[in-house]
Amino acid sequence: MNKQDIIIDLNQSINSNSEEFKSLSFDLQGNILSPHARDNAAHIFIEFKNPQSARKFIKYYLVDRITSSAKQKADSDAFKTGESNGLRTFINFSFSMNGYRFLNIDEHKTPTDSSFRNGMKSKQRNLNDPLIDFWQGEYQKDWHAVMIVSNKSSKILRNRVSTIKKELNKAAKSIYVEIGKGITNNEGNHIEHFGYVDGISKPHMLTDKIDDGKVSIVNWNPKGRLNLALVEDPGGQGPNSFGSYLIFRKLDQNVKAFRLAEQKLAEKMQISIDYAGAQMVGRYRNGTPLIPISPPQPTSAGKMNDFNYSSDRTTGSKCPFGSHIRKTNQRNSSIPDGVQFPRRGITYGGNLSENAESGVGLLFMAYNSNIGSQFEFMQSSWANSTGFPGGANSPNGIDSIIGQGNDTGGQVYFKEWGNDSSVLREIKSLGGFVTMKGGEYFFTPSLSFLKNI
Ligand code: HEM
Repeated sequence: MNKQDIIIDLNQSINSNSEEFKSLSFDLQGNILSPHARDNAAHIFIEFKNPQSARKFIKYYLVDRITSSAKQKADSDAFKTGESNGLRTFINFSFSMNGYRFLNIDEHKTPTDSSFRNGMKSKQRNLNDPLIDFWQGEYQKDWHAVMIVSNKSSKILRNRVSTIKKELNKAAKSIYVEIGKGITNNEGNHIEHFGYVDGISKPHMLTDKIDDGKVSIVNWNPKGRLNLALVEDPGGQGPNSFGSYLIFRKLDQNVKAFRLAEQKLAEKMQISIDYAGAQMVGRYRNGTPLIPISPPQPTSAGKMNDFNYSSDRTTGSKCPFGSHIRKTNQRNSSIPDGVQFPRRGITYGGNLSENAESGVGLLFMAYNSNIGSQFEFMQSSWANSTGFPGGANSPNGIDSIIGQGNDTGGQVYFKEWGNDSSVLREIKSLGGFVTMKGGEYFFTPSLSFLKNI
């Protein structure tokens, strides 16, 4: 242990100017504690040829090019002060369990999470995912690793990826590149393909914006403990060598079917299409939540996140229990519960199209410290569960956006905001607009592990 190393309590959130951050950020890869924030990203899936050439590629080419958390912060600070044009490429690297096995990594250096060890395919039934035979061909393979390479400029990214590919060809038997491209609305906010502003609510493990007073925390404090994502890296070399489990899922969106469902729901209840869609998501398109503004308007509060559901716990007549953001975060305690985790998704498939039935969607990515009690629990016990979260009109159906599985119970919507008796029960839950095309669990290890691999 060096003099400057301090013991870090993972049960806290930290400021990026703190000694704790300094002590962990040089060995920790970027994108875990805060998003890489670049709108063009290549996700390079790798199958290595043999352990020797894989080790060589990682040790002598890759590791010095990976963006540590410390480097990510330095880049972002330099951009803020105008010292940098923000065009630096971001790179990180994660192994699947197949990768650890293929490289013959010692058991005591291999991460222990059981879902990670068994891989995402083993969870197909638990998650109600499509049968593996129906996944996109590339994701039926057992990849060893994934690299995220991103840049603000698509041209720079293309050049960078082609240089990396040249080097990778010496070590890889096959690769597959999945391109993500962020899309924005007229206000410049990031949206997903159904047209809703995304990326508003997430646990802040770095508290900078909260400490600076830029985030209001009266009704909801998004400060997230480091251990919502970080775990000790068993292969790391320092006292503060951490890594995180990366969940990757390609989620295809049927925009045409979603729009039709919004329209039909609106007609049935004689409400606006905007309000019908907001009841499915829990926010209007511009991000305005259905709580606490009374009654909320599609144009009012935008990306506000300082709210909880305390005035709406019995029936969900303000924000339906089956809406996406309510299913995935009950906001029951004053801070994120242990199920919440940082989401790092990016859209794919080009520009917004009202008529797209497939080929567009979300590369859902998230960092977890325990896959079973975070991502898997959220998807299977909350989003896919008709009974959750209960209440006066239970069952509330599956999550209107990401719920997977047969649901005959039906979702509950309201004709009038805040009027408990204006309830409408859909015979069968709306859903099926999002199709999982494949994915994998990875571990994003410490840099000291990769240097000594
Ligand atoms: C194509 C698939 C998806 C779409 C279109 C989508 C869309 C959205 C949108 C529009 C929001 C509101 C913006 C925000 O609060 O940040 C949101 C929030 C959220 N989503 Fe998703 N999402 C998708 C997949 C998922 C998945 C797979 C999960 C987890 C299993 C998930 C978990 C969450 C969580 C936790 C929130 C924040 C809730 C809160 O704290 O209020 N989403 N999503």
